[in-house]
Amino acid sequence: MAQNSMRVLLSSEQIQARVRELGAQIDRDYPEGPVYLVAILKGACFFLADLARAMKRSVRIDFIGISSYGKGKTSSGEVKLTKDLDSSIEGADVLVVEDIVDSGVTLTYLIHVLSQRRPRSLRIVALLDKPDRRQRPVEVAYVGFKIPDEFVIGYGLDYAENYRNLSDICILEDPKAG
Ligand code: IMP
Ligand code: MG
Repeated sequence: MAQNSMRVLLSSEQIQARVRELGAQIDRDYPEGPVYLVAILKGACFFLADLARAMKRSVRIDFIGISSYGKGKTSSGEVKLTKDLDSSIEGADVLVVEDIVDSGVTLTYLIHVLSQRRPRSLRIVALLDKPDRRQRPVEVAYVGFKIPDEFVIGYGLDYAENYRNLSDICILEDPKAG
C-alpha cells in the first residue's frame, strides 16, 4: 500500500483530556442507575473503552454493527444492521457512542431502529463532529470536538481498515482512493 502523508489534528493528550471531561459531564447528567453504552463497530471501540473508564457510575456496554456499503472515504447512503445488540434496551438509559458524525445517515438510521425498542432515554455521544458535511439533521447530545471537513484517521478511525491503532487523530492528506 502506498504511504499516505498525514498530520496530527488532535494529539493523544488532547483526546484523553476531552474524553475525561465528557465522562464527568455524562456522570453528572444522568439519573441513578446504569447507563447502557452502545458503541458502533468498529471505529467507536477505542472511544468507548476510554469513555467508560472516565465514568464513575455503573455502565453496561454493548456493540452494534452497521454497514454503509462504502470502502472509500464516503458512505453510499445505504445502511444496514450487520450485528445486533446482545440484550434488550427496553426501559434503559441508552447512550450511543460514535466516533464521528459526518453526513448523519448512519446515526439517523440507528436512532430510528433503537427508538422502536422503547429505551427510557436515547442520546448520542460523538467524539468528532464534521458539521459542514451534514445531510440529515441529527441531535448529538455530547460532542468531543468539532472538526473541519477533512478526512481523519486514528483513535479508531480508519481509511480502508488501516490506521485505527494510531493514538493521535490525524488528517490524511491526498488519500489515493475513495
Ligand atoms: P455518516 O453516516 O456519513 O455520518 O458516517 C459516519 C461514519 O462514516 C463514521 O462512523 C465513520 O465510520 C465514517 N467516517 C466519516 N468521516 C470519516 C473520517 O473522516 N474518517 C474515517 N471515517 C469516517
Ligand atoms: Mg463508524
